[in-house]
Amino acid sequence: MWAFALEDHAHLDRGIAQLATSLRAEDPAGLRRSNRRGWHSDLLARDRSPDLATLVELIDDLALRIAQDLAWDLDSQRFAVDGLWINALGEGGYHERHRHENAVLSGVYYVRVSQDAGALVLEDPRPAAGMIQPRRAGVNPLSAASIRLEPEPGLLLIWPAWLPHRVDPNNSTETRISVSFNIPAVPRESPAHGIGV
Ligand SMILES: [Fe+2]
Repeated sequence: MWAFALEDHAHLDRGIAQLATSLRAEDPAGLRRSNRRGWHSDLLARDRSPDLATLVELIDDLALRIAQDLAWDLDSQRFAVDGLWINALGEGGYHERHRHENAVLSGVYYVRVSQDAGALVLEDPRPAAGMIQPRRAGVNPLSAASIRLEPEPGLLLIWPAWLPHRVDPNNSTETRISVSFNIPAVPRESPAHGIGV
């Protein structure tokens, strides 16, 4: 899990929140994915708005840094956002447990969240980890079966796409707005990796 706190994000957040409002007016039903009692936009082009383009550019830079840290081969593949959507959870809205298919990294950027707007819960994906456990005197991030993260505006989180996660119900009266995204590994069409080379 990688966490980044964006600086000077108020203008960006305002722009994305406005985009969410206009998209929702165009398509009030939205898509149904992991969202329950919440709105999920269609997949959006990265240049759907200047603010979205700014955010995606930043995420692409971070994805590259993560790929370098993990020693992923950057000669034969590239890592950039492909699959981007906005979520708006009203009071009581939540996301069921899910993983993101067809991507290597996934993440979220929090645009509008007030207190008690619903934590992100990341779960230990190892089925064997729950088989035999000693009695615990306490729970910490090393021993917990899940980790709960409280969202805040300007926070950008990226995690391996295979990691199961969910969002707890929004217990605030304000709409919780976030941008979710996927980052797949895309093969580069390089002659160096072609047949006969
Ligand atoms: Fe998700």
